[in-house]
Formats: sequence, C-alpha cells, structure tokens
Amino acid sequence: MNRFEVAIRPEGVNESFYIHPAITSSQIEQLIAFTQSETDPVKLGRDGQRFMSREQYEEWSKKGRTIYTLTDNIDAEGRLKGIFWAGEKELPDRADYSESLDPNFYRHTYAFRLYDSARGKGISHSVLSTCIDEYVSKLSLPVGFWLETSGANEVAIHMDEKQGFRVVSGKNDQGLVTLVREYAMPLKI
Ligand SMILES: CC(C)(COP(=O)(O)OP(=O)(O)OC[C@H]1O[C@@H](n2cnc3c(N)ncnc32)[C@H](O)[C@@H]1OP(=O)(O)O)[C@@H](O)C(=O)NCCC(=O)NCCS
Repeated sequence: MNRFEVAIRPEGVNESFYIHPAITSSQIEQLIAFTQSETDPVKLGRDGQRFMSREQYEEWSKKGRTIYTLTDNIDAEGRLKGIFWAGEKELPDRADYSESLDPNFYRHTYAFRLYDSARGKGISHSVLSTCIDEYVSKLSLPVGFWLETSGANEVAIHMDEKQGFRVVSGKNDQGLVTLVREYAMPLKI
C-alpha cells in the first residue's frame, strides 16, 4: 500500500494527513496516551480493554489485525492522528437481527478513530473510505462486514451509514447496535 495524501479543506486550516500501512512503536505510545485521556465512554468503546496499556496492546496485536495509521507526516514517523484496524471476527450471535445474516459471509469487521487535530474537520469519510477500499482490495469478493457500536454514538452511526452500512439490530443490554454491509464489486484504488 502506498501512502495516500488525504486532502482536507476545512475553513481556515491548511493541514495534510497521510495514511500509512503500519504503526510504529512511538505511535503505539501515542495511541495509549490518547486512549487513557478519552473521558467519554461512548467514544472510548472497547479501546479501554485494547489500548489502555502497552501490555493490552501487545495482547491485542496477537490477533494480527490489519492496521493503517493516519499521521501528520508523509514519513512513517509522524504524530498519530487516527487509526483504522480490520480483520476477521465472528458475527455477534444476537436474536434480534432484522434480517437473516450468514456468519460465514459477514465475517470481517473494523474500527476507526481520529485523534487530536484530525477530529471534527470533516475528514472521517474520506480517510475511512480510503482505508476500507485498501483493505477490501485484498479480499476475495463478495464479502460481508459487520460493525458493532454504541447506539448512543450518533456520529459513528452516521459515518457508518454514509459508508453504506445499515443498522440490523436494536440496542442490546450493553447499548450496542450491529450494522452490516456487503462488498461485491472490485473497488477502484
Ligand atoms: C467517529 C469519528 C471518527 C468521526 O470523526 P470526526 O472528525 O469527529 O467526524 P467528522 O468531522 O468527519 O464528521 C463526521 C460526520 O458526522 C456528522 N456529525 C457530527 N456530529 C454529529 C451528531 N451529533 N450526530 C450525527 N452526525 C454528526 C458530521 O456532520 C459529519 O457528517 P457528514 O460527513 O455527512 O458531513 C471520531 O469522532 C472518533 O474518532 N470518535 C471516537 C471513536 C469512534 O466513535 N469511532 C467509530 C466507531 S468504530
């Protein structure tokens, strides 16, 4: 994967961000610091169990997820501005799906976070699309994705629906909703 410059044009700001297909050791430290400083449990999600310490990160990294980072520098060692990770994970077993979902088809998931100066600038859609397209380009199609997010995370649900996902459940006892989408056609990279 080559780096992609994601051009953003927020009013009065001229800042460029870059996607890299890896995370460096110092960016892992920044990821942990951002996670520790997140006070909103809705935005924190499950990162409280993944990225709160180096030990948690090392344990999580054994799952072998595909990781793309967003930084402020075209060189690999920029400051961390966002993270996307994706991988295969079993579709949650829920009784309240509004449609029949084959777990053998809906078997990929991802998570996406922006940090610091990358947040609130309207770049989430273009960064996320670039990361998903890159990840999906390596898969045999068609394939299904599922996501689970807090039903209170309106920005995330809006973002995921804009990506083509649809909500297929109500809130479970933890307030989580499931969304799915299919990728059938080769994507342009
Ligand atoms: C979710 C996240 C990546 C979005 O990034 P962001 O920089 O805040 O979002 P943007 O500025 O790009 O705006 C995203 C969209 O949400 C919309 N939005 C903003 N506040 C909203 C709200 N309260 N309700 C619904 N939509 C809202 C924006 O208008 C924008 O929509 P548009 O693209 O159609 O114009 C970021 O907030 C984040 O990292 N959150 C914590 C982690 C998380 O929730 N990740 C997603 C689940 S994996």
